[in-house]
Formats: sequence, structure tokens, C-alpha cells
Amino acid sequence: MPQLREPPCKIESMCGIVGYVGRPKSLEVLLGGLRRLEYRGYDSAGVAIITEEGDLVTRKRAGKLSVLVDDLAAEALTDGSTGIGHTRWATHGGPTDVNAHPHLSRDGKLALIHNGIIENFAELKAELLADGYTFESETDTEVAAKLLGREYEAGGGLAAALGRVVVRLEGAFTLLALHRDEPLVVVGARRNSPLVIGLGDGENFLGSDVAAFVEHTRRAVAIGQDQIVTITPDSVTVTDFFGTDVEAQEFQVSWDASAAEKGGWSSFMAKEISEQPEAVANTLRTRIHDDRVVLPDLAGLGEKLADIDRIVIIACGTASYAGMLGKYALEKWARIPVEVQLSHEFRYSEPVLTPRTLVVSISQSGETMDTLMAVKYAIDAGAATLSICNTQGATIARESDAVIYTHAGPEVAVASTKAFVAQIAALYLFGLHLAEVRGTLSGDEIAGALDELSSIPGKLEQVLLTSTRIQELAKWMSDSRAVLFLGRHVGYPVALEGALKLKELAYIHAEGFAAGELKHGPIALIEPGQPVFVVVPSPRDPNSLHAKVVSNIQEIRARGARILAVAEQGDAAVLPFADEVIPIPLAGALFEPLLAVVPLQIFAMELATAKGLDVDQPRNLAKSVTVE
Ligand code: AGP
Repeated sequence: MPQLREPPCKIESMCGIVGYVGRPKSLEVLLGGLRRLEYRGYDSAGVAIITEEGDLVTRKRAGKLSVLVDDLAAEALTDGSTGIGHTRWATHGGPTDVNAHPHLSRDGKLALIHNGIIENFAELKAELLADGYTFESETDTEVAAKLLGREYEAGGGLAAALGRVVVRLEGAFTLLALHRDEPLVVVGARRNSPLVIGLGDGENFLGSDVAAFVEHTRRAVAIGQDQIVTITPDSVTVTDFFGTDVEAQEFQVSWDASAAEKGGWSSFMAKEISEQPEAVANTLRTRIHDDRVVLPDLAGLGEKLADIDRIVIIACGTASYAGMLGKYALEKWARIPVEVQLSHEFRYSEPVLTPRTLVVSISQSGETMDTLMAVKYAIDAGAATLSICNTQGATIARESDAVIYTHAGPEVAVASTKAFVAQIAALYLFGLHLAEVRGTLSGDEIAGALDELSSIPGKLEQVLLTSTRIQELAKWMSDSRAVLFLGRHVGYPVALEGALKLKELAYIHAEGFAAGELKHGPIALIEPGQPVFVVVPSPRDPNSLHAKVVSNIQEIRARGARILAVAEQGDAAVLPFADEVIPIPLAGALFEPLLAVVPLQIFAMELATAKGLDVDQPRNLAKSVTVE
């Protein structure tokens, strides 16, 4: 049964990290650990080992772990008793051999791997360049490796050097490092990204979660925020960033190895629904400074951005519903005409495109053929192109003038959830940036909207806590044959997405309608007991859409429908007419969809589970539709 309650070690970031000290079998431990972390999704892998002869050897390859394993089979790597391993989900720099971890110090004696995003890497890199350092990769991680190598030369040992480095880093990171002059030692540090210790007998482990070592030991210690750990075969030391010892609490890992594959979640779908707060937070991270949007990602558009007079958003499925929400925001904030077209319809409609048209494609995979062909059509027609994509280096991103990457992390379940909310967040950032460029919003108005946007991760955490009641509802409705979803204004794309989730997960006929459309035909579908989800606008809505939707509810209730309302906390007007009210926190009209969609995602997942269906790999579906 999927569950949205957190497992002991909530998964906070996406790459895989393994560290080991003990017996001369590092390679087996590292590769085994990385294999158990594969569920996290990644696009390159690498290892570093200190051999029994005291040499530091490394191997890293873009692609799946199997590429690295095949490479090691073709050309053996000397093994040793000290090692670190990494699977990377590209954030800074595409998935290439050079960008893969580990990265080395200038003298090649130290290796480092990293999870997360070092926000101030550019200024640190400039400092090192001025110091005569050179770099081979595009990554923020290599900057940390060079910095640590320089600090190590200043003396005090590896742990002390790491402490001096991490106090200078901003952002989210888990770092592991080893140095050939300190064999049988691995050090680690974490801030806003997980790191756990596995306690063995004559050996010790580190991992981004317990899946990294659960096959060797179930004794674990979670490391706290801003802490450093040093492991040797017979000792484990945990300190703060300044070297002061701190207490660390041991716990027993309760998961079995197969559950550990998904970080303790019973399905990728449950895991990814739970990751939506950080998907939005990570997409916003580094892009809001001093109450303004900072989007260097748009550099590729150059002067075109200020000159556009129309936007066409193209996407498929869930991504297209994010696009519909983007339309509302862009038109409201930037006062520019926006139309949303399904990618596979776009180029056959002979659209009117000019160099002042900006075609914005939205794609989680960045490989959807319908969208890729539409982007190529737009490029050939001379339009400017912007991609909103969740996959670094994907084809659609590379074809476009510019790309705003969402940082939702790898989305493994076929049905999209966390990428959807991240796409909306990216579209809203773009809309507010465009409003500043076009002077259609004041600085205070932009700041206010950014405050709202920044509050969404916390509000999503609150919504995730309502999952128990939704689980009960889903069980009751598991024999439903058709479910309707109503929404108005920004609630309409949410209704469409809720219907799509139910179709693709529970194989139940479901349809989303604009609530105002009901009396123009669909109300004929209403019969006694017909389940209808209604996404209710805020009662604070200035356009009194709330009153209109409440009267829609009364119309269908009078005909026997069973009403499940997703409504703002404290909305008393809905209570008398709804059989169930699922509350969401207060948020501005444009921001409510980011919250209202979550109960609908959970409902679809729980109903599919009640029917014994595979919520991660639904029948007939592919994660990326790379055929037209
Ligand atoms: C979403 O749940 C579906 N799996 C599907 O509609 C998907 O959103 C669509 O195929 C677009 O995929 P993309 O975002 O990778 O381009």
C-alpha cells in the first residue's frame, strides 16, 4: 500500500553517494551501493579508490551504471580498502565523462563527489582561476574539489580542511572526499542534503540514503545539518563544521533491500508526490535575489526577449496543463498574448509565427517527439524558442534558443507529478521576469508574487499531510466507473490534470470540464451517485468565481452527484453542499493550482493501488513518447 508518511530517512536529493572504508573490496561495495541507488535516477557514474599500494585511482563514465561496469570489466581498476562512488543527475553541465564525479584536486591526490547545488560556485571558481587554477569540467563540484585540495595543502588533515571549505559554500550539498595521504579515511559533510553512516564490523559506510549499504549493515546513523563525519575501519567521528564533536543517534534500518530501492517508499509515484515541495524549492533556488527574478538561463534569447509580442506554449499531456496555467500568469503579469497548443496539433494548424513570436516548449523528458518536431517547426519559421525542461542536455533543450531547467530531480514514475508543479514554478518565474522586462508590474508587485511563490513548498508540505483521508475515499470509490472533475479559471487545468491522473493510473474513465461549461451539455452526465471532484476557487476571489462554482455544485448535487470538493481551508460556503471537503492552505488565485492538484494525484494513486494496479508503470504508457 503506498504511503505518504515519511520513511526514516526522507529522500532530499537525487544523486547517489556511497563511501567505504574497511577491507580491500571497495569496488564491490561501491558498485553494489550505487546499483541500489539507481532508483534515484542519474545520467553518469564514477568511483575513486585508494589502492593497497597507496595510489588514488578513478574511473567515471556518462550513461548508466552498466556503462561504468562494462568499462571496468574491459580495463580493470586496482581495488583497495577505501573508496567513494557517485551517480550524478546533471545540474551544472551536461551528462559527460568529464562532468561525471569524482573530481580531483590540482595535484590529483584528492577525490571528491557531491550531491546538490553549490550556489556560489562561480565566485569561488573566479578566486581559484585568479590563483592559477584550471578546470576541465563545467561543474560546481570541481570547484569544491580544487578548493579542498588547496585547503589540504594548508595542513591540519582532511577533515579540518573540509571544515574550512564547507563554511564558504552556499546552497545544498553532500560532499565525500578521500586523500591518498590518508588511506583508510573517508570524510563527508552535509547541508540541506542527506548523508547517513552505516556501522559495520571492521568497516564503515556512508550513503546518500541507507539503500547504499543496507545489504551490509542495518545499523545506521543519520548525520545532522552542517556536520562533518570521518570514517575509518574502526571509528566514526561526527563534528560540526568547526571540529566540535556532536552527538549522533544510531537507528536500525527497518526497510528490506527491495524497499530500499525506492528509499523506503512503496512506489516511485508515492516518493515523487512527496518530493513536490523540494521540486518547487529546487526550481526556485538561486533564481530569486533581492525580490527579483534572476534567470541567466535566458541569455540565449538575448535581445529577442524584450522584442516579443506573442507567446505560443506547446506541450503534451500533463505538461500542456502546466502550459495552460502559464498562460494565465503570463497574460496577467506580462500583459502579452499567450496561446497554448498541443504539440502534435501545433504544426498542422499552420500557425502564424514571426521573429517576435516566442514559442515556449514544456517537456519533462525533453525528448517527446511531438514537442521536438513542433520546436523544429517553430525554429524553421524563424520564431524564438524557449524550453522548460527537467532533463539536462535533452534534445528539446539543446535545440532551443534558451532553456529554463526545472530541478525536480529524476521523475521515474510514468505519470508526471513533481515535474508538473516544477514546470508551473518555472513558468511563473519566467512570467515575473518578463513583467519586469516589459515594465508591466512594479517592483513591489513582483516581490509580492515572489513571496507567494516562495511559500508554496511549505504549503505543499501541509497538503501532503491530508493523504490519509484521501486514501480512505479512494478505497470507497475503487469500483467507480466514471469520475468527473470540474474547475474554473486556473482550476480548469487542475481538473484536466486530475482526470488525466485517474485515467492513466486507475484506468477509469475520467473527464475534466470547465465548470461554466456544465450547463452547456455535460450536466446530462450527472446521475445519482456520480462522483464529481470540484476544484473550488478561493472565497476571496475578486471575480466571485467562488459563488459561481458553489452554485454549480448545487446544480449537480440536486441531481444526485457525490461531491468531493478541494477547497481553501475555512471555506464554509462549500460545506453544506459537498459530501467531502479536502482542504488546502490559503494561497493567491494563481498559486492555488500548485496545491489543489496534490489531493487529485494522491486520489488517483490510492484508487489505482486499491485496484491492485502498478502505479509506476501503467499499462500502454511510456515515460517519454519518442515517437510521433
Ligand atoms: C503525464 O502523466 C503523462 N505521462 C504524459 O501526459 C506526459 O506529461 C506527456 O507525455 C509529456 O511528456 P514530457 O513532459 O516528457 O514531454
